[in-house]
Amino acid sequence: MDISRAAALYFSPTGGTKKTAERLASALGWDAQFHDLTVRAADLSFGPDTLAVIAAPVFGGRVPWPFAQRLSHIEARGTPAVILAVYGNRAYEDALLELRGLAEARGFKVMAAGAFIARHSIVPEIAEGRPDGDDLYRLDEFAQRIRQRLDYVSPESLPTAIVPGNRDFRKYDGVPMHPSAGRGCVKCGRCAAECPVGAIPADDPSKTDERRCITCMRCVAVCPQFARSLPKLKLAAARLGLKKSCAERKEPETFM
Ligand SMILES: Cc1cc2nc3c(=O)[nH]c(=O)nc-3n(C[C@H](O)[C@H](O)[C@H](O)COP(=O)(O)O)c2cc1C
Ligand code: SF4
Ligand code: SF4
Repeated sequence: MDISRAAALYFSPTGGTKKTAERLASALGWDAQFHDLTVRAADLSFGPDTLAVIAAPVFGGRVPWPFAQRLSHIEARGTPAVILAVYGNRAYEDALLELRGLAEARGFKVMAAGAFIARHSIVPEIAEGRPDGDDLYRLDEFAQRIRQRLDYVSPESLPTAIVPGNRDFRKYDGVPMHPSAGRGCVKCGRCAAECPVGAIPADDPSKTDERRCITCMRCVAVCPQFARSLPKLKLAAARLGLKKSCAERKEPETFM
């Protein structure tokens, strides 16, 4: 069956993954639908007439667990897919391999993959301004190559994209710091409504359930009062820890 549309599915607490996925899905040149699965799951199904763009941010070299859970609500019947791991200029490690497995388990046929860079959501001066013009150009060019491949090879006979990663996935238990609300909080409830894992009680948004919180930084990004932040000392330690591994600009990589 011919492909007639694109659908982007993504988890994006602070917007970098969303921007990357939407750009690629739009640049493919078909009608594109966008499904933001950051805050809640959606029961969606796709057939072979759609090319899916499935995009996750990298947390600790892995796919954030809420996105893995949200993907389990998606059904695909022989739907070709491009997977994207979006990372903060340190490393993406096993994220693409994990994401490919998650997509295949739902019935997608992963024909291409990309690792792209966006601003680091915990230490925003790392990869600040990315995806930038060069990244967007690389996404457009990747979309063209995907289209060309589909012109020559029917979706049913596309080979699976080979991606880097270790089958013994990197162990990741989260980071040892969580945002909390300071004195500027006016209890508007927005952070509670937009937390992907329900870690902020709606009746008392000054609290954070640290056992649930995945430190995704969404509450910090959406607070209209700029009232939420990470503990200063722990953030300074994280900044120092990332300094060396993030010093050099990383470039996008694609696999097809
Ligand atoms: C908890 C957490 C862990 C992260 N781990 C990594 C990592 O292992 N490697 C990396 O390069 N960036 C890492 N980052 C940065 C994000 O992958 C990056 O900022 C991404 O663009 C965030 O996506 P978003 O803007 O869609 O939320 C991490 C960010 C968070 C919040
Ligand atoms: S979004 Fe900001 S101001 Fe609103 S409840 Fe949360 S911390 Fe308070
Ligand atoms: S409380 Fe934690 S999980 Fe919820 S939005 Fe804030 S950082 Fe993300």
